[in-house]
Amino acid sequence: MEQKVIFTSDINISLSEYIKDIDYDHIFILTDTHTKETSLPVIKSFTDELKDYFLITIPAGDDNKNIESLNHIWIELSKNGATRRSLMINLGGGMITDIGGFAAATFKRGIKFINIPTSLLASVDAAVGGKTGINLNGLKNEVGVFKTATQVYISTEFFSTMDNENLLSGYAEMLKHGLLESENYFNKLISYDVTRGDFESLLPLLEESVNIKRKVVDIDPYEKGLRKALNLGHTVGHAFESFCMAKEKPVLHGYAVAWGLICELILSNKQCGFPSSVLHEAATFIKTNYPVAYFTCKDYDILYDYMTHDKKNDNGFINFSLLNNFGDIELNRSATKEEIEIMFDIFRDLMGI
Ligand code: GLY
Repeated sequence: MEQKVIFTSDINISLSEYIKDIDYDHIFILTDTHTKETSLPVIKSFTDELKDYFLITIPAGDDNKNIESLNHIWIELSKNGATRRSLMINLGGGMITDIGGFAAATFKRGIKFINIPTSLLASVDAAVGGKTGINLNGLKNEVGVFKTATQVYISTEFFSTMDNENLLSGYAEMLKHGLLESENYFNKLISYDVTRGDFESLLPLLEESVNIKRKVVDIDPYEKGLRKALNLGHTVGHAFESFCMAKEKPVLHGYAVAWGLICELILSNKQCGFPSSVLHEAATFIKTNYPVAYFTCKDYDILYDYMTHDKKNDNGFINFSLLNNFGDIELNRSATKEEIEIMFDIFRDLMGI
């Protein structure tokens, strides 16, 4: 599962150097309709230097991470002469790195691919660690394989086209990594002003975050144990995401994760003695920087229901990854319905809703 992650402030030079050293016959670049306009121009000097490459574009948006888009990618690869020596470059957010990785992993039983994540969320999460796949029948990431990109290029050059909302969304996964790692790194994260667009200071924080994820994935690439720690905040987060979607007020993934993190720190505090002072610091950061999660006690049942349907559950128990303290992880924890209701009460109190 060896995967090289390159942090660069000049993506064009980094790609040109890489391409000189590898054996390939054709290059295919995958974008969506959005990254074709915003991110392809960023690598123009590299694409100008390539004598020829083939561009495949699919419609933007997570709803298009589906079998139709996958079929389109496979057909374009096949029609345009892709062989086992071809290289695919996935240029986009998590939707592109997920579906592009899956297409490359399965075409002719697997061709090389590299990921160039263009959003903060994809840089800290989807592009790294080898999860690929598509949604099916309304279920997210229902079909896929573990297959790592040979290289991942992370450059903040793409982030200038990202709005504050998407920056905050990616930052929630960094906060998760901070909690999973150390007080020192977490404190650096909550001291950084995420909306200022200071990407020079963001890059070292981002590098630390990606390395935390890589450390976990190296130990447990197939999520048999430790990798479940990366689900911190996501059991409740996914319930918030589904709840908002059902109300036709969808929220960005990272917003739901940010709210889910606070809820799961509340559970960590109750069940494992996670320090109240840190819970309060984290809650203040989320309350200050993220929008409000609108729900009342009348919504607890439906949120609970979403949690019981989470595909990470085992034997009918809702499965949480909790913390005793920074970096001290408790996997496979559960909670009663009553504990979950108390968790929501405390969350609403902390968030002032
Ligand atoms: N997104 C969590 C993981 O890659 O395992």
